[in-house]
Amino acid sequence: MKLNIAVLPGDGIGPEVTAQAVKVLKAIAMEYNHVFTFNNALVGASAMDATGIPLPEETISICDKADAILFGAIGHPKYDDDPSATVRPEQGLLGLRKTFDLYTNIRPVIAYEDLLNKSSLKIKQIKGTNILIYRELASGIYFGEKNFSNDEASDVCAYKRTEIERIAHLAFKAAQGRKRKLTLVDKANVLASSRLWRTVVNEIASEYPDVTLDCMYIDNAAMELIINPCQFDVILTENMFGDILSEEASVIVGSIGLLASASIGNKHAMFEPIHGAYTKATNKGIANPIASILSAAMLLDHFGLYDEAALIREGVDKSLKLHITTPDLNTKYDNISTSKVGDFIEDFINNPDETNLNFTNIHLGQSTII
Ligand code: IPM
Ligand code: MG
Repeated sequence: MKLNIAVLPGDGIGPEVTAQAVKVLKAIAMEYNHVFTFNNALVGASAMDATGIPLPEETISICDKADAILFGAIGHPKYDDDPSATVRPEQGLLGLRKTFDLYTNIRPVIAYEDLLNKSSLKIKQIKGTNILIYRELASGIYFGEKNFSNDEASDVCAYKRTEIERIAHLAFKAAQGRKRKLTLVDKANVLASSRLWRTVVNEIASEYPDVTLDCMYIDNAAMELIINPCQFDVILTENMFGDILSEEASVIVGSIGLLASASIGNKHAMFEPIHGAYTKATNKGIANPIASILSAAMLLDHFGLYDEAALIREGVDKSLKLHITTPDLNTKYDNISTSKVGDFIEDFINNPDETNLNFTNIHLGQSTII
């Protein structure tokens, strides 16, 4: 398959982690005879530094022509300190989501057996967690009318029926392929927009009689996600609640550096780790590249390259099992850098046969017998 991939490394640790995902995609292309081409473009604070704006026209054009967008991270503290600033790095990411109408954000939350003890939650509570969060990404409070003055400020949370319907159908279909349970998370006891979500999703539920629909208030869901995450299968929610719940869910998995995501529109698709730019860690080699690498796997799934995506996930599983991980997860080796994790998974893709693994050199990133 030929794929033209726009690569937007962005800010902070974005470039380091994205480089590992590209490395892994190149290894997949080699193994399976695909032709992947990569076109880099600027976004966020790095685009502001170079051009004055967070989402330059050239970036939009490169993304528009691409089959998929691989996104790194966005944000820089130097742009955070002025609350009255009208241009911010985050507008780069929000602009991409809006320009390409990437309305469905899918965030898998899986408790890996090998990492159960890394979570600050109790193992018996989180063991077996496997949730798919469907977060609406192109509307709601993020994109409603905004007003700001020194005395008053407001953000409008507006949803159209059609905006709810299109993601709800995708979430129901996803549930059909899983444990057939969908939980709508809202605040329908207070918010009018949530009441529309509940009305529309309840109506659509009749088209999916094999899926059980539950509705839960966001405050309750925030608690249930921590005390009993295994009760969830697919969670469907609006933009802001999805942002918060998915970041909370990273506690179950053990590190926010593990959570990948796909943002899907009707014509375009973008793949990005859910973590931010973590600028303090920039170029220290400590950023966990797994979320970016797993986002690359979601990219392959999106194009039906399931075996390829599965091989990446196997490589990730192996790296976790063998402690080839960055310091956020590692208590065994203290010298595994961002690029060593990428090298290991690249290496695994080239030689998936476990008998080739050289356990004595594994922590050096030299995992195969040459
Ligand atoms: C996310 C991030 C973004 C969001 C920020 C960087 C604008 O937190 O993708 O979860 O709030 O959506
Ligand atoms: Mg977030």
